[in-house]
Amino acid sequence: MFERPEHGQAVILASLDFGKEDYSEGLSELELLAGSAGLVVVGVVEGKRKRPDPALFAGSGKADEIGDAARAADASLIIFNHELSPVQERNLERRLQCRVLDRTALILEIFALRARSNEGKLQVELAQLRHYSTRLVRGWTHLERQKGGIGMRGGPGESQLELDRRMILAKIKNIEGKLEKLAKSRALQRRSRKRGGVLSVSLVGYTNAGKSTLFNTLTHASAFAADQLFATLDTTTRKLWLPEAGQQIVLSDTVGFITRLPHSLISAFHATLEEAVQADLLLHVVDSASPNRERQIVEVEKVLKEIGTEQVPQFQIMNKVDLTDAEPQVARDEYGKIAAVWLSAKTGDGVELLRSVLAEFARDQQHETRVLAAQEAELSQSYVETNIDGLE
Ligand code: GTP
Repeated sequence: MFERPEHGQAVILASLDFGKEDYSEGLSELELLAGSAGLVVVGVVEGKRKRPDPALFAGSGKADEIGDAARAADASLIIFNHELSPVQERNLERRLQCRVLDRTALILEIFALRARSNEGKLQVELAQLRHYSTRLVRGWTHLERQKGGIGMRGGPGESQLELDRRMILAKIKNIEGKLEKLAKSRALQRRSRKRGGVLSVSLVGYTNAGKSTLFNTLTHASAFAADQLFATLDTTTRKLWLPEAGQQIVLSDTVGFITRLPHSLISAFHATLEEAVQADLLLHVVDSASPNRERQIVEVEKVLKEIGTEQVPQFQIMNKVDLTDAEPQVARDEYGKIAAVWLSAKTGDGVELLRSVLAEFARDQQHETRVLAAQEAELSQSYVETNIDGLE
């Protein structure tokens, strides 16, 4: 349905510095994102501005420089490292005579490439429909030579446009209904799992931190791990047996975080983290070799708080120790509670330590459950006795 960038397509990245401190991190992330979508970056045009231009986002001189760079490198696509309004996108395409995408569209493209489960696919389709419904005029009014895209079959015309809009709105409603049903059946599944006394553990963390790799090492499963951002979109779930605790745990992998997630994608992203809210334990995987790790930790914790995981116990997994001077180890807080585990998911160094702290956690939980059950039984016993006393 959507006009997709082709695999291997040459792109120019356009990035404007508005004086924010995470500017260069955002730009290098955009390059990784483009690579993840299978695009080839043939040039980067940067500029500085105080605020975006309402018509072209960049100033007209800078916009022309971007267009020239695209022509010189024979690139058929320009990606802005920002959110563009539909008007800015259209004006830019008209002026530069080249297809223009913004950062949101690129992330959506990657979500679409990576979505595997039914729910993930629906979430992505919903976000895409919402994104493109405001950009419906693309295709035939200003880039006549561009083929494909929404509504091309009927040719130009307001009535076709109106029809497409209505069709998209109906489709959005339909998907929302399906998602609601899926959420209900998922809640049921979770309840039955809780009844079975299985401990649920969710891996969360920044994109590329190594969640999928750790998930595989722990479960010897073959969930897709690649040096691409967003190798996992959906929660992938596997069972893991911990003989040390005589306990089975259910381990879930979740979609990775990125800096400056476009606002319109937040709800789709949060929905994919639903599993984490319900977990008994979170493993926050950190790329300990990354120079940005502190900022990434803060951002992940902020979102976890927003989605309501404050009460869920959490261990930090300082991954990729093979790239640093650190040794595999377990760190505890002043009360002896497990706080962090240093390991390498890739080489397997320290993974045994993680298994043993997981077993320790599982045993503590079993103990807690038994104590709680005993307290409950005691309470109900004294309630019965009081009532019987009252009757006599
Ligand atoms: P998303 O799915 O994008 O959120 O990423 P992720 O957190 O699941 O990361 P993934 O497991 O796909 O790993 C990202 C990259 O880091 C891959 O190239 C891995 O091989 C690499 N990697 C993961 N763990 C380690 C590690 O312990 N050491 C080293 N050197 N590389 C690692």
